[in-house]
Amino acid sequence: MIPDNILEKVGRNLHLQQGHPLNLIKQKIEGYFASVFDSDGFDQFSFFDSFDPYVSIKDNFDDLLIPEDHVSRSSNDTYYRSPDIVLRTHTSAHQNLLLKKGKRYFLVTGDVYRKDTIDATHYPVFHQVEGVWAGSADFWPTTPECDIPKTVEEFLQSTLEGLAHHLFGKDIECRWSDDYFPFTDPSWELEIKFNGEWLEVLGCGLIHKQILTNCAKDPSRPGIGWAFGLGLERLAMILYGIPDIRLFWSEDPRFHDQFKDKTPDDKISFVSYSKYPPVYKDISFWAHPGPYHENTLHQITREVAGDLVEEVKLTDNFTHPKHGKTNHTYRITYRSMDRSLTNEEINQLQNEIRTRVEQLPVELR
Ligand code: PHE
Repeated sequence: MIPDNILEKVGRNLHLQQGHPLNLIKQKIEGYFASVFDSDGFDQFSFFDSFDPYVSIKDNFDDLLIPEDHVSRSSNDTYYRSPDIVLRTHTSAHQNLLLKKGKRYFLVTGDVYRKDTIDATHYPVFHQVEGVWAGSADFWPTTPECDIPKTVEEFLQSTLEGLAHHLFGKDIECRWSDDYFPFTDPSWELEIKFNGEWLEVLGCGLIHKQILTNCAKDPSRPGIGWAFGLGLERLAMILYGIPDIRLFWSEDPRFHDQFKDKTPDDKISFVSYSKYPPVYKDISFWAHPGPYHENTLHQITREVAGDLVEEVKLTDNFTHPKHGKTNHTYRITYRSMDRSLTNEEINQLQNEIRTRVEQLPVELR
């Protein structure tokens, strides 16, 4: 049920590979939490980075209060190994178990898997860091003047702004806005202004009271806490100027030589090496809105063409007024990171994609 191009990524653990940019960023984040929560007299954070990416739907969804009918549970979005086991879609999957074990301050880094669109910043496998700080029930003074949730919120926001400054420099501007996650309440996102542009860097919030209650030894005293999650590729692309997410998986020394002898404190600006020319191919078909899901074409393309596909872009989406079907035209961009492509091999891939699309509930044009 899980295609080979995904299975072969399980166990690669780029975040553990010495001298890999994802490992450098991971170390930088862990270094920040190690120093902040030591010098301020807080209990220390534990760092986990080797949990199995196959998790139960209880861990990935149920215990995080993700509703039964939430889109992320659909097999259009998530890789199912069996009806109960998925490749984790986020590192939040480990929150409940660790809290139940009595862990209260921790980071979890790992590879996460999502069926997604294809472009320079999206890839079906990426890496996240999850952070949890859960204060015990009697951590805070319970004087009436002390607004505890507000205090915890400010603590969360100052910790994460500190992280942003640690990663991107002291002068970076931060901005908060409201967000929504089923497992935090309230929830926020943090954006930073980088080279004049506001970029989303993480999601976070106060851990939902129900989760703290479910995980507490004494459910009548759940305590209060916060959690955040961030994508390592996204941070590395911004911080080091890496233009294409496929590069993280490349084995080209022109990529790795730029990172391998670096430390987390080094300033690194990735220098792009010459790009090989792209090959464009279009595919068009009529589809009824319900049975056809856009991720299907992205997934087929990735399965057939692997990392040779750079982008799949919807260029026309016209609904016929008479029969109500929608025309979908996609432009597929093929480009290799390390060699020139031949027309022949791309025609073969494109034909294979057409054959697979013909089996969908669509009419190929
Ligand atoms: N798990 C969320 C995601 O993948 C991120 C998140 C983690 C948000 C923890 C809030 C708290 O998008």
